[in-house]
Parts: sequence; C-alpha cells; structure tokens
Amino acid sequence: MRIEPAASVQGAFAVPGVKGISQRAVLLGAVADGESEIRGFGRAEDTEAAIRVVRALGVEVEDDGGETVRVRGAGLRGLREPDGALDCGNAGTVLRLASGILAGQEGQFVLTGDESLSRRPQERIAEPLREMGARVETTNGGAPVLVEGGALTPIRYVLPVASAQVKSAVLFAGLYAAGGETTVVERLPSRDHSERLLREMDVQVVRRGVDVTVSPVERLPSFRVEIAGDFSAAAPFIVAATLLHGSELLVEGVNINPLRTGFLDVLERMGANIAVFNRRTDSGEPVADLEVRPAELVATVVRRREVPRLIDELPLFALAAGMARGESAVWGAEELRKKETDRIETVTNALKALAVRVTARDDGFGVRGVPTRPKGGGVVRAGGDHRIAMLGAIGGLVSREGVEIEDAESVGVSFPGFFDLLETVTQR
Ligand code: S3P
Repeated sequence: MRIEPAASVQGAFAVPGVKGISQRAVLLGAVADGESEIRGFGRAEDTEAAIRVVRALGVEVEDDGGETVRVRGAGLRGLREPDGALDCGNAGTVLRLASGILAGQEGQFVLTGDESLSRRPQERIAEPLREMGARVETTNGGAPVLVEGGALTPIRYVLPVASAQVKSAVLFAGLYAAGGETTVVERLPSRDHSERLLREMDVQVVRRGVDVTVSPVERLPSFRVEIAGDFSAAAPFIVAATLLHGSELLVEGVNINPLRTGFLDVLERMGANIAVFNRRTDSGEPVADLEVRPAELVATVVRRREVPRLIDELPLFALAAGMARGESAVWGAEELRKKETDRIETVTNALKALAVRVTARDDGFGVRGVPTRPKGGGVVRAGGDHRIAMLGAIGGLVSREGVEIEDAESVGVSFPGFFDLLETVTQR
C-alpha cells in the first residue's frame, strides 16, 4: 500500500474499544456465573481470538459482529477440555492471560499462535504458574504452551520484567489459589486493566506500594462493562495532527488510564498541543475526549521508569522525535525486542525508509530530529506487526515523498478500520 503525503488531518471520531479490556472481559466473562455484557467491544483479530478461545472451551458467546458481545459464563471451574489446541492467533494477551485461568481448571490445554506469537517468550508465565502448582510446558520457551490445571497455592511473585500480561496471568491464577492471598510485586507499575475489571466484579484487589494482591474467590459474578476507545488506536492520529500544520482533530471517548497514557505526557513535554477534557469514569476506567492541534516539537529522552506507560507507542514516539528539534532517545526498553516483531529493529528500519537519522541500541534507540518533513520514498516492512504498519502510514502522511507499506493489512490485528478512517480524515 502506498501512503502519499498529506496537508493535514481534520475531523471528529471515535476509535475501537480498548483491545486489552475487550480481551480481559471475554476471558473473565467466560468463568463468571451467568451472562456478562460487553459494550464497546474493540473488534479486531486479537479480540476475536479471545472469543474463539473461550468458545473452544465450551463457553457460549453471543456475537453478531457489532459492538456488543454477550458471554454466558461457564462458572469459575467450568471450562471444558477442548478437542484440539487453542489458537490464540497473534494475541499475546490472550495466550498469557488464558494460561492463568486454565491453571485453575481441570484438564489439559494446549495454547498455540501464529509464527510471531510462537517466537515470543512464555517461560515468563510458565515459571510463576508452576510455582503455584500447575504443570506448564513451553516449546523452546515459546508456544505451543501446555497447561495442566491443578490445585493452586498462593504465591508472592516478584516480576522479573515489567509486564501487565505476566502480572495478570498470576492474578487470574490467584483467584483459584485457596488458602491465602496471591501477590505480584511490580517495581515499575504496568497497566492495571485486569485489576480494575476484577474490582468491577467485586473481587478484592489491593495495591499497596509495589504489591498488587488478590484474594481467592468461590465464584465470579457476571458483569456489564462499557469499553472506551483504545489510546493506542488514537495515538497514530494524535501524532499526525501534531506534525501536520493546519490539522484539527477531536478523538471522542478515549480511555486515559494513566498507566497507558505515558505518550501523552511525553508529547506534552515535547511541546504538543493536546487538550484533555470531558473527563469521566466508565466501568472503573478514566475516559476523556482529546483535541489535538499542530505544534513544533522539541527532543526529549524517555527513560526506563517511563517505558511501561508507553511501551506500545514507542514506535510512534520515534517518528515524532524525527521531526522534533534535537536529539531524542529511549533507554531501558529492551522489552521492545519481544513484541510482535523486534521493534527496535523494525522501528529503526521504518525510520530509515523515511530518511530519519536513527540509531538502534540494545535497549532502545536514538533519533536526531529536524523540524521539517522527512524525505520518505522508502518501503516500510511491517512484518506482520500492526503497530509498524500504522507507523508507516503516519510516516507516509508527514513525509515529502510518501512511503510504501509492505504487509499493511496487519493493522487488522488491532484496528481493521484504520486505513478507512485515515483516508476520511486526511486532507491532501
Ligand atoms: C498488554 C501488555 C503489554 C503490551 C501489550 C498489551 C496487556 O505487554 O505491550 O500490547 O494487555 O496487558 P507486556 O505485558 O508483555 O509488557
């Protein structure tokens, strides 16, 4: 797909519901008692993977392809051993969080995924789940992952990497660990969508300093949840409106969970012009409307402490840094190498296709920015990575010569309507 340069982006719109909350709601709804209603479901390949997996486990899901999905829960221990493997597609969140729930079920379960997911590290969930008493086997450290549920015991687990997925897997297993509380210790706070959704289900989840503690339950009540727009889906548009003169963009109903919106803080530090207003709370999550106008950006440095709060937006940060005056850098982000692609490699290659001066390091990258349109003209290879395809698209809009995106359809993993929406708001 070719993306030609644009003059500006204009418009008011909403983006699909938060991917991670959509997945969590399906997975927890599957083990609740009775029917849960998920409104604002963020439809995408990664969220449909959650539906596919719980259906294979014997859960009835009412889904007509719209924004509301109903899950008829099988009860806390009611999941059924499937005939074959559970195909998680590209969705790391589904594989890792489902493993936490399956550790508490009776039976043997095999979780698989596509080539990219199979390469990603799964010992990080296997280790704590084994410690709790489940049998978990990975394949060379990745998927397929075999989980054989058992009687679980509570643990106190210090996360070796800042990961909401690992934290959530342990907390979900903790619901099944009779006889005490399960605690996850996270030195750097990661997104807390699981904790908030569990609280909506009347489960006791307490954060004390760096400890997050869950109590075991006898049963989970069904719930109704309203999911706001995914900040990660809004972020490409925010960057386009910031970098293109004459833009004016309103993104309505965006989830602004502070553990997800580090990119807003970073952009503001760089001089961006983003108004956050109409703040409200929906289903235990903060929501707001965002208004974005163009701005001249200055360089900044993102350090380890900040990384978990904008991990999925670091590719877009690299692009914004390319047009910000001065030297920007990201440190302490080696986790980028473990995402859908090695995002230190794929981001630096994408920026090179735009003729931005970028250097990769083991744990991040450096960008020498200039406040003019990058030349462009190259090919951005998404390699199946939705975030890199979106980076390429915004890179094309702000460039002088446009870019070609290889594997552009990978946006469907998180945002199938991305290119249609982009076309609607783009002024040439
Ligand atoms: C996610 C957590 C993050 C993030 C991913 C979604 C989640 O991964 O990169 O896109 O929904 O919990 P890690 O937990 O591996 O950091």
